[in-house]
Amino acid sequence: MGTSAGIQEHLLLHVAVPSPPPPASSSAKMSIRGLCKSSESTGEPILRGLSVDLQAGQVLGIIGPSGGGKSTLLRALNRLWEPAAGSVFLDGIDIRCLDVISLRRRVGMLFQLPALFNGTVGDNVRYGPQLRGKKLTDSEVNNLLIMADVDPALASKPASNLSVGQAQRVALARTLANDPEVLLLDEPTSALDPISTQNIEEAIVRLKARGITVAMVSHSVKQVQRIADVVCLLVAGEVVELLPPSQLSQARHPMACRFLELSG
Ligand SMILES: Nc1ncnc2c1ncn2[C@@H]1O[C@H](COP(=O)(O)OP(=O)(O)OP(=O)(O)O)[C@@H](O)[C@H]1O
Ligand SMILES: [Mg+2]
Repeated sequence: MGTSAGIQEHLLLHVAVPSPPPPASSSAKMSIRGLCKSSESTGEPILRGLSVDLQAGQVLGIIGPSGGGKSTLLRALNRLWEPAAGSVFLDGIDIRCLDVISLRRRVGMLFQLPALFNGTVGDNVRYGPQLRGKKLTDSEVNNLLIMADVDPALASKPASNLSVGQAQRVALARTLANDPEVLLLDEPTSALDPISTQNIEEAIVRLKARGITVAMVSHSVKQVQRIADVVCLLVAGEVVELLPPSQLSQARHPMACRFLELSG
């Protein structure tokens, strides 16, 4: 190591070996450790060894610039793409060791735009349990609709007649029918008016009170400040800040600061 070539070699080795991600947390509901994903078409990295925990019964708000990998991260958590072994854990178990159907029941997902099936609102809510051979009673359907802030009188109405805001809440009720432990929400209110947005936010807060763990991607800093317990700022596939919403103004990463400033 005395020569300059030796020093260069030493530096190269030092740079080339990234530090290993911390071990999965034993107390977190979900642990993400060193999660990587590259674009299948260009090979460009999308997620760069990302590590973050979803604490049980908390809302993790995920914000950051467009294209930063927020949806890609959420989609890994119920295996809409296959994360590498040892990178996503549910209750300490690698999700790749779980049956994918039961994983998706335990870790439910709601997208930006609701996609309801033809049939009534009640048919939609009954769908998941029916796949497992369970027929929900009318009162169970009504309770799920109430939990998602939907008027139970809509149960017998065709799903195609709903507004986008109503349909999003029915989609939430349909996800809740599977009795999920974790909810993944990808910009669930970005297509909704302020009243429908408030209804969904209130429903999320009530679900949290029932012990459901939530990861919510949002483009609204104000929204995560209203309902998140912890905010994760994701920039170019990396977690650059992880802090309580009240401390967002203390973010130091340049892109995170610019994003927060422009999001006002
Ligand atoms: N299946 C895929 N194949 C190739 N590239 C992909 C794939 N999925 C996502 N990407 C790319 O990965 C990057 C991150 O995308 P992603 O949708 O996760 O970002 P995002 O943070 O959710 O953005 P937005 O805020 O616009 O929703 C983008 O550059 C996107 O083009
Ligand atoms: Mg997205």
